[in-house]
Amino acid sequence: MWLDAAGRVTTLDQTVLPFEKRTLTLASIDDCVRAIATMQVRGAPLIGAVAAYGLALSLRRAAADEDIVKACSTLAATRPTAVNLRWALERVRRRVEPLAPSFRAAAAWDEAARLCDEDVAANRAIGEHALALWRPMIVPGRPLRILTHCNAGRLAAIAYGTALAPIHLARERGIDVHVWVDETRPRNQGAALTAWELAEAGIAHTVIADNAGGLLMQRGEVDVVIVGCDRVAANGDVVNKVGTYLKALAAGDNGVPFHVACPLSTLDRTTPDGASVPIEERAAREVSHITGRTEAGAIVEVRLVPEASAAANPAFDVTPARLVSALITEAGVCAADAAAIAALP
Ligand code: MRU
Repeated sequence: MWLDAAGRVTTLDQTVLPFEKRTLTLASIDDCVRAIATMQVRGAPLIGAVAAYGLALSLRRAAADEDIVKACSTLAATRPTAVNLRWALERVRRRVEPLAPSFRAAAAWDEAARLCDEDVAANRAIGEHALALWRPMIVPGRPLRILTHCNAGRLAAIAYGTALAPIHLARERGIDVHVWVDETRPRNQGAALTAWELAEAGIAHTVIADNAGGLLMQRGEVDVVIVGCDRVAANGDVVNKVGTYLKALAAGDNGVPFHVACPLSTLDRTTPDGASVPIEERAAREVSHITGRTEAGAIVEVRLVPEASAAANPAFDVTPARLVSALITEAGVCAADAAAIAALP
């Protein structure tokens, strides 16, 4: 994500990747709302950043107290699960509310930029901490074999990403890694986005069907699993892309460390446990249909299931804290339990 000279936000349209690298310019709150709701932008840190800029853009047009409330509630309604969205809006709101309306837009823009800078620093720190944790697992002569689910990379954040941060850092430092990329049905964030991002960075990876990870772990072909998260509750339960829980179960059964990259902005100490987190239910069509490119180059959507069959699409699930080997935050590595989470800054 970057800002242009006209004071607009520019990012990649993630709905057309990996087939097209199309930039998306967001010039108004309506553009930001649409981009988040349709998942042109997605991933917990990125939707927080876009929401912050969306609020700043709306304050350029109307900056009275009631305008702030309206803009925040419109942006917050776009997606329910990732806490970063509300966290970012709250942060910008707190910064601008004490100011006179004429100063609010500039202050909001400044706060959104600060939040993005902090996200980059946090993600780099997460990468460093994770890499330090992984060093003892490195076996000379073969790559470190990492499995990840969904996309918690550069595309989902401002830079580096969270779960992919140590992988990008490993690449920068010449550490040999290989990534098993879960396809992540139904929207295929793994097959479409993580694979694209790793290919762009020249990082060795293999896309696998979501159900293959358990077998790979049984065969001893996975050294560590790392995922991002949309919200971590006060007791350490992790809410992330649907399918994460099954990977944690398989990792636990096979003695594979299950790591969660969790910026402090994704911690929600006001929510007691994962069962209290709202789980987004998305359109059934994301399950019943799939989009891809034909050999002739046309992008087409095709039906997968019988016309008469219903489809359901819960977008996230809850991994109980007991299945999480470590939370990796910018402040360091800690256990996924209430005491460790309470002690975080
Ligand atoms: O529905 P999405 O694609 O926004 O879901 C994204 C995830 O679940 C990511 O793992 C999470 O947001 C962490 S991104 C650093």
